[in-house]
Amino acid sequence: MWLVTIFLLMAVTQTHADYPSLQAVLSQKGLQKVSHWMTDWFQNELGKITLPDVSGSVDIFLGLVHYVLHDMHVVRCDLPEPTVAFSEGTGVSLQVNGLSLAINGLWNTQFGIIHDSGWFDLAIFTINFNTLLEFQSTEEHLSISSVMCTADVGSVQVHFHGGASFFFQPFVQRFSGRIKNMIQERICPGFQEGIENIDKDLATSDYIKMDPYVYLNVSLTDSPVVFNNGFELYIKGEFYSLSSPSEPPFSPNHFELPWKADYMLSVGMSEFCVNSAAFAYLNSGVLNITITDDMIPKSSPIHLNTSQFGSLIPQLPKLYPDMEMEVVLYASDTPLISLNQTVINVNLSASAKFYAVKTNTDLVPLFRLDMQYSFNAKVRIDDQLLKGVLELNNLTIVLGSTEIDKFDTTPFQSMVKLALNSFILPKLNAQLKEGLPLPRVKGFSLTNSLMTIENGFLVVATDISSPFDFLQSDKL
Ligand SMILES: *[C@@H]1O[C@H](CO)[C@@H](O)[C@H](O)[C@H]1NC(C)=O
Ligand SMILES: *[C@@H]1O[C@H](CO)[C@@H](O)[C@H](O)[C@H]1NC(C)=O
Ligand SMILES: *[C@@H]1O[C@H](CO)[C@@H](O)[C@H](O)[C@H]1NC(C)=O
Ligand SMILES: *[C@@H]1O[C@H](CO)[C@@H](O)[C@H](O)[C@H]1NC(C)=O
Ligand SMILES: *[C@@H]1O[C@H](CO)[C@@H](O)[C@H](O)[C@H]1NC(C)=O
Ligand SMILES: *[C@@H]1O[C@H](CO)[C@@H](O)[C@H](O)[C@H]1NC(C)=O
Repeated sequence: MWLVTIFLLMAVTQTHADYPSLQAVLSQKGLQKVSHWMTDWFQNELGKITLPDVSGSVDIFLGLVHYVLHDMHVVRCDLPEPTVAFSEGTGVSLQVNGLSLAINGLWNTQFGIIHDSGWFDLAIFTINFNTLLEFQSTEEHLSISSVMCTADVGSVQVHFHGGASFFFQPFVQRFSGRIKNMIQERICPGFQEGIENIDKDLATSDYIKMDPYVYLNVSLTDSPVVFNNGFELYIKGEFYSLSSPSEPPFSPNHFELPWKADYMLSVGMSEFCVNSAAFAYLNSGVLNITITDDMIPKSSPIHLNTSQFGSLIPQLPKLYPDMEMEVVLYASDTPLISLNQTVINVNLSASAKFYAVKTNTDLVPLFRLDMQYSFNAKVRIDDQLLKGVLELNNLTIVLGSTEIDKFDTTPFQSMVKLALNSFILPKLNAQLKEGLPLPRVKGFSLTNSLMTIENGFLVVATDISSPFDFLQSDKL
């Protein structure tokens, strides 16, 4: 018996929390795009940085001239599109050939007691840069490190202006050699520092706050895998309530993401991920609304009024004549969503607690209805809009508890069914037919997106565009 118990325990601990509920693949096409953005960003950033001062001394045979080059700015940068490629099993190789920079700055010299100053321009030609980045999983988050880096600088030209610069210019040859070496030596450490900063940022947080109620745990369940044409991340992808995080009573399901190389990004989301979101919202108490009569339009044939409910519950107006009512509507159990080839099935358990309003603070409990809804939804992405149809599959309403004696709930069921089918769903479906906009993240938007529902998971394959793309097309 204990053997069976241990075996079961092992099976439970292995299936639970081990399967990633979110999987994402960046394709070669996506990598190209990311590299393009990084190039634009880098070119932009270079224009903003102030380079560190450079000081030293030059021997001009009569003695040493001490110099300081300061207030240096990059005024021009020609950054050719880098060559990026996945390096199977490791990460990404990045190669830049023929970067050139133009830098302006000020100079000061001191020769004995003679002080002099002016400005200069510096051109650095043909910087070649080559690096290999490694992707790993460290303590359940993605880590990036540079495992190889080489840089060389082709040539450097300096021109001094102002002061006694005619006197310096002849020594420039020796000078530029030093500057060239200095730049060459600083490229890789500078790059590595940048990568370390990115790595630190990646390590700071393993969750994303979605709204005031729930967060998504994005820790990695496994090491990332680098193919020769893509890069796949395995993410826990479980939603938790911010106010009372707890594990749901169901376990992650396994799936394999069928990703598409002709889209930049493919994301797979399992049934568990979707259901954990439902569980988290339920735990946050969000799925709980109070409906009062003033929320119902004046034109509605049904009002929350004990007299009106007399046709459904004969004893109600006798006990509480002509009183307003209030309903607390809440999800009583986790909505269960199943994804099954093209169809999304949603089973929703909800309860409605009815009160008679004596005064604003004095509510008399009347009864509770327990409802089981089953909806079928078909969704697709069309023209970058989420479109679909929602239909009622099944609805049952039973009397959960009552303070006013039992009554038949069949009329209620018919009434709610009628309300859903004739008013609520047609209104929702009209909106779903027009489509809902896809989410945007920090200016990045999805283009050319495709959604497919598989057995137990859904996949979104998409291209991504950023505001940068529009800037680029303006320039051309
Ligand atoms: C996310 O999940 C991982 C793995 O189960 C866990 O170690 C980590 O504490 C979780 N983080 C949060 C914020 O829930
Ligand atoms: C719903 O909200 C009401 C009032 O805010 C609260 O009394 C009740 O306990 C909540 N019910 C559930 C199931 O969260
Ligand atoms: C309830 O409805 C009746 C008519 O159906 C109306 O005369 C009465 O004023 C309503 N009572 C309240 C409290 O809204
Ligand atoms: C939802 O309920 C229907 C019947 O009402 C059932 O056939 C289906 O399997 C249920 N789906 C889930 C995900 O529980
Ligand atoms: C999905 O639907 C098919 C029929 O369309 C059915 O045979 C199959 O059992 C369903 N799978 C699940 C997991 O509900
Ligand atoms: C609707 O659900 C009830 C119980 O929840 C079940 O007995 C009935 O068979 C279901 N009807 C359909 C059409 O699925």
